[in-house]
Order: sequence, then C-alpha cells, then structure tokens
Amino acid sequence: MSELKPLIVVAGVGNGSGTGGSTARLFAKNGYSVALIARGADSLKKITDEINSSEGDAAPFAIEAYNAANVSAVFVKIFEKFPAQTHTLRIALWNVAEGVFKNFLSITPEEVSTTFSSSVAPAFAFSREVILKFKENDIVDGTRGTLLFTGATASVRGNVLTSLFSAGKHAERALSQSLAKEFGRQNIHVVHAIIDGPILTDNQRNRNTKEWEKNEDIRLDPDAIALAYQYVVGQHRSAWTWELDLRPAHEKW
Ligand SMILES: *[C@@H]1O[C@H](CO)[C@@H](O)[C@H](O)[C@H]1NC(C)=O
Ligand SMILES: *[C@@H]1O[C@H](CO)[C@@H](O)[C@H](O)[C@H]1NC(C)=O
Ligand SMILES: *[C@@H]1O[C@H](CO)[C@@H](O)[C@H](O)[C@H]1NC(C)=O
Repeated sequence: MSELKPLIVVAGVGNGSGTGGSTARLFAKNGYSVALIARGADSLKKITDEINSSEGDAAPFAIEAYNAANVSAVFVKIFEKFPAQTHTLRIALWNVAEGVFKNFLSITPEEVSTTFSSSVAPAFAFSREVILKFKENDIVDGTRGTLLFTGATASVRGNVLTSLFSAGKHAERALSQSLAKEFGRQNIHVVHAIIDGPILTDNQRNRNTKEWEKNEDIRLDPDAIALAYQYVVGQHRSAWTWELDLRPAHEKW
C-alpha cells in the first residue's frame, strides 16, 4: 500500500452548504486532501478554513466560469498543489448544476449554446482530466478511482420548464454511463446519482419555511447524500453501482 495521501476533487462546491461541501467535509474527515472548485474565491474561503481548522487539508481552486477551458486549466493548479510525489487522486465529484428553466419558446439559441458549453462540455473536460490521472493509479481495493456525477430528476425526466436543463442533465448521465462501460474494465468506477427532491442548502433554507427545514421526510440532507457517496466509493468491485437514486421518504414520484 502506498504512502501517498488520497485526494478528492469536488467541482460545484458553491458556497459549501450543499452536496459538494458535505462530500468534501466527509472525505476530509476520512483522511483525504480536498481540492475544492467553485466560481469565485470568496465562496470557497469559508469551507476551506472550516476543513483546515478541523484538522483536514483543503485548498480552494476558484474558476471564472464553468467551461471546458477553465475546468481543464484548473487541474494544472490542483496537481501543482497536490503533486504525484505526495498525493494520489482517488475520487472526483462533478456536482455542477447550471440551469435555465423556461418555456421552450422563450429559450434563445444563445441560451442553448451557453447551457451546453457551461454544463456538458466542462463535464467532458473534468472527466478527461480525472480519467487520465486515474489511469496512472495502482489498483487499491479493486479500484483505481471513483468518478461521481450528481444528477437530478431532470437527468431522466423532462418537464414543462426543463427542455434545456433536462437536455444537459440527460447528456451528463449518458456521458457517465458510457464512461462506466468504457473504463469499468480498467477498474475505474463511475457512478451517477439521481437526486430526486429538494436539497437542504442555504439557498433552499432561505426560500422555504422553518417547518420545511425541520421535516426530514420532505427534503434531502446533503450530509446524507455524502454518506451515500461514501458507500458507493467503498463498494466491492464484484458489485458496483453505476446509478443510484436518492429521495426523501415522502417524495411524490
Ligand atoms: C451561502 O449563501 C447563502 C446566501 O445565498 C447564505 O445565507 C449562507 O450563509 C452561505 N453559507 C455559507 C456556508 O457560506
Ligand atoms: C489550508 O488552506 C490553505 C488555503 O487557504 C491551503 O493552501 C493549505 O494547504 C490548507 N491546508 C492546511 C493543512 O493548512
Ligand atoms: C475561463 O473562462 C473565461 C470566460 O469564458 C475566459 O475569459 C478565460 O480565459 C478562461 N480561463 C482559462 C484559464 O481558460
């Protein structure tokens, strides 16, 4: 077994109050160094300091925008900070959700192209960097690494305001499935998670009532989603999950 410290890269951390933040905190506790990607340095400061001050090791990697060029470029910085001499990338989470929610006829051609260049294209760029790195890894406990995608209800179902958002999410799901098939045979585990319901993030807290916040039957706790991610990461290679779906107990679906 190597002396190298395991590294997790999380893209789509936002301000740290959702799934990306919870996953980063959980794996930091499990002994992983954490590379945090979000738009804007300010949003990353709080969660980086929080992880560092609770004996974890996190570093912020702010990007200007989610696009293929920014996402590819940020990996150069990540591997400067966490070089192969000290760290080995073991987990990567694509947790980015860019959304245009509009009636079909209100959607402009620019929005169509921006949505794809800010969601699908950077998901391809992220996967490329991660898979290239994973291919250098030794197989440990059956795997070279785990690439996780956070999906949504829209990954499998369109709806009246989601023709564009859902098309992007379907594309990311298709990418993850294709990668799972192509790279599973190289012991790279690719997982797609359909998150079916509202997540208790700070944004949702601000939009909803205190009763909503307290009722664990109707919203997903991001810490609980992180535990599900920890579970799939630990799966034995003879029984790997590609797709997981998670929803609160009382969700109508
Ligand atoms: C995240 O942003 C919201 C406002 O959208 C704010 O209320 C909250 O305190 C922020 N959370 C963190 C962890 O910085
Ligand atoms: C803590 O945070 C900084 C970034 O602000 C990072 O570069 C540093 O390596 C982190 N880790 C520790 C253990 O202090
Ligand atoms: C990041 O994206 C912005 C906006 O499109 C662009 O101006 C900038 O050059 C990109 N940076 C890198 C390093 O690719």
